[in-house]
Amino acid sequence: MKRIRCGIIGLGMMGKEFASSVMRWAHLPEMEVYPEVVAICSGSLKEADRKWYSRALPTITQMTTDYRALISNPEVEMVYAAVPHHLHEEIYTACFKAGKHLMGEKPFGIDLNANRSIMDGYKQHDHLLVRCATQIIFIPAVQRLGAMIEAGFFGTVFDVDAGFLHSSDLNPDKPINWKRTIASNGAYGCMGDLGMHVLHLPLRSGWRPLNVRAVLSNIMTERPDAQGNRVPCETWDNAVLLCEAEDRKGTRFPMSLRMQRISPGEKNSWYITVKGTKGAAHFTTKQINTLNYLDYRNNPDQAWSVLDMGHETSFKSVTGGIFEVGASDIILQMWGSYFYELHHHKPQSTYTQCATPEEAVLSHHLFTAALESHETRQTIPITFDRA
Ligand SMILES: NC(=O)c1ccc[n+]([C@@H]2O[C@H](COP(=O)([O-])OP(=O)(O)OC[C@H]3O[C@@H](n4cnc5c(N)ncnc54)[C@H](O)[C@@H]3O)[C@@H](O)[C@H]2O)c1
Repeated sequence: MKRIRCGIIGLGMMGKEFASSVMRWAHLPEMEVYPEVVAICSGSLKEADRKWYSRALPTITQMTTDYRALISNPEVEMVYAAVPHHLHEEIYTACFKAGKHLMGEKPFGIDLNANRSIMDGYKQHDHLLVRCATQIIFIPAVQRLGAMIEAGFFGTVFDVDAGFLHSSDLNPDKPINWKRTIASNGAYGCMGDLGMHVLHLPLRSGWRPLNVRAVLSNIMTERPDAQGNRVPCETWDNAVLLCEAEDRKGTRFPMSLRMQRISPGEKNSWYITVKGTKGAAHFTTKQINTLNYLDYRNNPDQAWSVLDMGHETSFKSVTGGIFEVGASDIILQMWGSYFYELHHHKPQSTYTQCATPEEAVLSHHLFTAALESHETRQTIPITFDRA
């Protein structure tokens, strides 16, 4: 087993998810590589985090509040940076300069300019493995969808509807945090938080948005701060985007995308419906085990097939094949994908590769155009940087 020594910058929710995946690595019995966390860093390094991480990962030899100290540690080969969006540019580019492989978090820069600067740094060190964390594609039913797209099951796709819906922000008394301020979360608001999760599968399938008409909503305009004072909450809660998309053959079709923090009844619902000339499919994390599809090429009755997926993960797991899958399982799969690609210098397959920096670039162009569309009430063409 090849060992990769890792550092974690940002010890919050996602830092802990990575630590938990490392602790469960034996779930992936066919991996020829394993991560070992040797260094951790957080701006504040709270005592509770210090205790939690040292108990969870006894391999840690460095704990610091300065990310530069972690990045200059020669033991560290790879960094997972799970920090607020305004820190992506500085920390990701510092990782490249120090020659560290990186799993960055979405949106991969707080805005388009920050993303450009990250990409400039990456291009000078493109021998490094750099990926953007998003785990949804590793749900077994979504993997199956990817295989169906690749096999041409849908024929010519003529309609895609996808989204990610939350509802916890419906509570007006939920205290404000960094994810609800433009300074640390960015002007994209909910698009920066939820958008890459929605776009990973469509972009990987070659469905590229050409233009967008967006309607953005700031529903809760103020929230309590830590002292209980009501302060402005400026970020977009909800985004509805209608795009004209194009597939790799040049066929155009409507693609509607919803990213919403205030969607009553939806705790963490990622969904997609794909309609094509030969078949259609629908999936939602509300029924994470289930893929619904129509095969009207072979069944003119258009009768829905309802398929139980079980634990058919792409990276073999010791978990029983009939067991349902959960959030920490797909995060483990995402990490399996990252270290598989790092070890083998290529992904296992098209749909088992983590989101690439180039896909993050496309998402930035879409979100930037969406902001302009909302502002001007116009349909905005999506322009892409040419390399
Ligand atoms: N993949 C997913 O499903 C998913 C889910 C939530 C968040 N995220 C992304 O993960 C990233 C982090 O989000 P989170 O929910 O873990 O946030 P969090 O608030 O739980 O944790 C952020 C961490 O960053 C640390 N930090 C702040 N300033 C720092 C600095 N200067 N140096 C080092 N550390 C610093 C904080 O101390 C904290 O430990 C964001 O980019 C977010 O969009 C991804």
